[in-house]
Amino acid sequence: MNKDIYILGIETSCDETAASVVKNGTEIISNVVASQIESHKRFGGVVPEIASRHHVEQITLVIEEALQLAGLEPHQLNAVAVTEGPGLVGALLIGVNAAKAFAFAHQLPLVGVHHIAGHIYANRLEQEMEFPLLALVISGGHTELIYMKEHGNFTVIGETRDDAAGEAYDKVARTLDLPYPGGPHIDRLAHASEKAIAFPRIWLEEGSYDFSFSGLKSSVLNYMHNAAQRGETVAPEHVAAGFQNSVVEVVTGKTVRAAEEYKVRQVIAAGGVAANKGLRNSLESAFQEKEIPFYIPSLPLCTDNAAMIAAAGTVMYEKGLLGTMAMNGRPGMPLTSWI
Ligand code: KG4
Ligand code: ZN
Repeated sequence: MNKDIYILGIETSCDETAASVVKNGTEIISNVVASQIESHKRFGGVVPEIASRHHVEQITLVIEEALQLAGLEPHQLNAVAVTEGPGLVGALLIGVNAAKAFAFAHQLPLVGVHHIAGHIYANRLEQEMEFPLLALVISGGHTELIYMKEHGNFTVIGETRDDAAGEAYDKVARTLDLPYPGGPHIDRLAHASEKAIAFPRIWLEEGSYDFSFSGLKSSVLNYMHNAAQRGETVAPEHVAAGFQNSVVEVVTGKTVRAAEEYKVRQVIAAGGVAANKGLRNSLESAFQEKEIPFYIPSLPLCTDNAAMIAAAGTVMYEKGLLGTMAMNGRPGMPLTSWI
C-alpha cells in the first residue's frame, strides 16, 4: 500500500492566486503562483475588489496547472488544504469555495489552514523543524513572533500593535515615489547610502515582544514634509537607510532576546519582509554569534504561496483536523494550536 500523502494546497488570502501539490508535507511536487502585483501597482497597494476579481479568473486555471505539473489525478490526492484566514474576506472566499467544490466533486477531505501557520511550515519544505522553535513572521500583513513547543503548538509572544512591517515599508516607499511593493526598492536604496538619517527605534515597554511601526512611519513622513517646507531636497537613499536601520535593529533585537529567553533550538523567519537583505544579514550574524541555528526559506517560499498551505495542511490532516462543507473565509481568524 502506498503510504505517501499528497495534499493539494490553495492560497488566495491576499494578492496571489496559488495552488500546489506537496508530498508528505515536505516535498514540493508542483507550486503555481499567479501574482496580481501588476494590477495593484498603479493604486500603490492591494485593492480588495480587484484582488477578488483576479482570484475568480485565475483559481480554476491555477489548480488545473498544479495538478497537471504534478502529474496527478484528483483521486490520487489525500486531501485539499486551503487558507481559511486571516486575509481579505472576498479573496479568502474564492479559495475556500474552490476548495470546497473540489473536495465535494472528488470526495476528498478538506483542511482549513491558518495563513501564518502556512508561512511557518514553508520551512519544512527545505529543512526539518527542530523544537522548541521561534518563528518570526514578517510580511505585508503580519509581524509576529511565535513560539512553538512542538508541531502545531503555537504561542504568539509578540505582534504588531499597528502596521505590519511590510505595510510600513510600502507606505514609506510611496512617500519616496517608489513603485509598489516598495520593500525591495527601499532595501536596494538603503544599501546605496553611507549617511543614514537617524529615525527613532520603537522598542515599546521593557520586555515587550510586541512591535509598532506607525510611529516610525510618521517620523519618516514628518521628515519628508519638513524638508519640503524648507525647500530642501532629500536624498531618498539616506531616508531609506535610516528607516531600514530602525526596523532591522528592533526586529533583530526582539527576535534574539526571545530566542534566548525561550531557549529555542531553532529560529526561522518567513514572510515577504524576510527577503530583506539588511534584515537577513543582521539576523544571520546575530544568531551565528549566539550559536543558534537560524533559517529563512528561499524567496519563492518566503512570499505567499500554496505549497506552505499544503505543508501545514499535511500535519493537520495527519492529526485528523478536518474542515466541513460549512467552512467560510475567516478574515480575523486567530492562530490556535492543533490539538
Ligand atoms: O509575504 P508577502 O508576499 O505577502 C503578505 O502576506 O503580506 O509580503 C509582501 C510584503 C510587501 O509589503 C513587500 O514590500 C515586502 O513584503 N517585501 C520586502 C522585501 N521584499 C518584499 N520588504 C522589505 N525588503 C524586501 N526586500
Ligand atoms: Zn503572507
